[in-house]
Amino acid sequence: MCGIVAYVGSQDAAPILLEGLQRLEYRGYDSAGLAVVNAKSLRTRKVKGRVADLAAVVPARFKGGSGIGHTRWATHGVPSDVNAHPHLDQEQRIAVVHNGIIENADELRRRLEADGIVFESETDSEVLSHLIGSTVKETDTLEEAVRRALKSVVGTYGIAVVDSHRPGEIVVARNGSPIVLGIGEKEMFAASDVAALIRYTRQVVHLEDGELAVLKADGFNTFTSDARETAKEPFTVDWEAGHYDNGGYEHYLLKEISEQPDTVARTLRGRLDDRFHIAHLGGLNMDPRESRSFRRVKIIGCGSAYYSGQIGAQLIEELARIPADAEPASEFRYRSPVVEADTLYIAISQSGETYDTLAAVQELKRKGGRVLGIVNTVGSAIARECDGGVYLHAGPEVSVASTKAFTSTAVAFALIALHLGRVRDLSPADGRRICDGLRKLPEQIKEILTQEEHIRTLAMKYADAPGMMFVGRVRGYPVAREGAQKLKEISYVHAEAYPASELKHGPLALISPELPTVAIVPDDELLDKNLTTLGEIRAREGRILMVGHRTAEAADDCIVVPKNETELDPILLTIPLQIFAYHAAVALGRDVDRPRNLAKSVTVE
Ligand code: AGP
Repeated sequence: MCGIVAYVGSQDAAPILLEGLQRLEYRGYDSAGLAVVNAKSLRTRKVKGRVADLAAVVPARFKGGSGIGHTRWATHGVPSDVNAHPHLDQEQRIAVVHNGIIENADELRRRLEADGIVFESETDSEVLSHLIGSTVKETDTLEEAVRRALKSVVGTYGIAVVDSHRPGEIVVARNGSPIVLGIGEKEMFAASDVAALIRYTRQVVHLEDGELAVLKADGFNTFTSDARETAKEPFTVDWEAGHYDNGGYEHYLLKEISEQPDTVARTLRGRLDDRFHIAHLGGLNMDPRESRSFRRVKIIGCGSAYYSGQIGAQLIEELARIPADAEPASEFRYRSPVVEADTLYIAISQSGETYDTLAAVQELKRKGGRVLGIVNTVGSAIARECDGGVYLHAGPEVSVASTKAFTSTAVAFALIALHLGRVRDLSPADGRRICDGLRKLPEQIKEILTQEEHIRTLAMKYADAPGMMFVGRVRGYPVAREGAQKLKEISYVHAEAYPASELKHGPLALISPELPTVAIVPDDELLDKNLTTLGEIRAREGRILMVGHRTAEAADDCIVVPKNETELDPILLTIPLQIFAYHAAVALGRDVDRPRNLAKSVTVE
């Protein structure tokens, strides 16, 4: 949620920390702060607001070769200067930045206060600086002090710590919140996301839960929580700094929507086999016999990832004829799920760090479940935790609202469904049909993007509605859910998604000229049923924007997308809804890339 960045080396830390924080701002952004150590003195600045507000109060001569920085997304305590990180100990010797939630913070706080410690902030994180501060005097190393302090902590954390008595050294630790180390030339970096490091280095090391690392300019050492040194292999990130730029677009969201012809092509690249009309997915780590052995597929993910999982379940049922369903990972993990040996579990995550999804995967693994990941971020926690999976190769997604990762996930599901289908009963002819359909997607997405102006006009027409209903049947239903999700999260217009078939069972009561409906109406075997639903809405004077493969009299407005294979149509039907939500949000003057109350990567429960 929040962002962490740390630097130690021969350069001044402050400009590097500010640049890193700017790159992380999409993760959490109600306040920001940094601390640098110079010749045994600790200097900090922190403010409520954006990184630019922090940069404005950091003096030009803010010297120091090691330091830590943070962007905050409030969980405990309102956004304010005092609640911003870093937090210091009583003697102002130790500074700590923290992502995650300390569950026993109240109890620790009471204990520390009983020892005479005075707290400044309302945050749970401040207990960490005081705990480390009171331990560091009794230990020989900062690492030892951090390790001892963390022993009394219950909860999740990614932390970075500096000690003014030890300039040139940073200790970081991870438990449930990501920490990645960046290896430079006589300098070391750490961050909660590679986005903050990529300008300086592409050589990275991910910490595991329970690990600590000591960073100095000339290298790093990693340890388990019981002080055993661990050996880590660095790997090279294939994303580049340029991938994080907005490429001249007004918003990252529009850039990411527009990238979809390429990102979909990248998800497909090298994975379609024209000889057997099957998908090659080496990362699944399963031979055909194993692929045939599953009797059920269960898909988990959060938010848009979950909706893309619903498209995935439909694809798997249709192409592989295996019963499949999707469930929010945030619910799944808490309901003590029955885990079966002949069920294939698939976890979806763009970031690979969503805590609820990670916890669900861990629960599955603990019960012996076989879990595949569909993940965008290489080397992320969920990718590492899974038994195998499919990387999306969609490149970094910066805007809070997911777009290109959503379509690439749906494409990855089509590949998995094709694979599972072709080792079962899907005929070579149907396999070829799906392969051909998948290949057509990038060009068809380009065609949809040419309709941006038409969709913008419609968005402006409907943007002032107090709310919108989204409906779809079977394949169209997850598309409707994702369309409603996009609209509500970036434009703040209330949007509700319903199966079109359910309308009569309650929500029809809401239909009036004030509540327009977006209807997903593909040309499939349910077309007539959908057109009947449009008639019912029309009869109640509801305005209708139809998204489908043709126009219809019952609709006030239509967006027509190119037809693909029926099973793959949901992927294309999603794209006009992204463009619609984007332009509605712009028309309403919203902060499109950083919608209020949200963060890109939800690394807390
Ligand atoms: C998507 O627009 C949302 N911002 C959100 O629902 C997101 O998809 C969800 O939090 C899951 O994120 P993940 O894919 O990184 O796990």
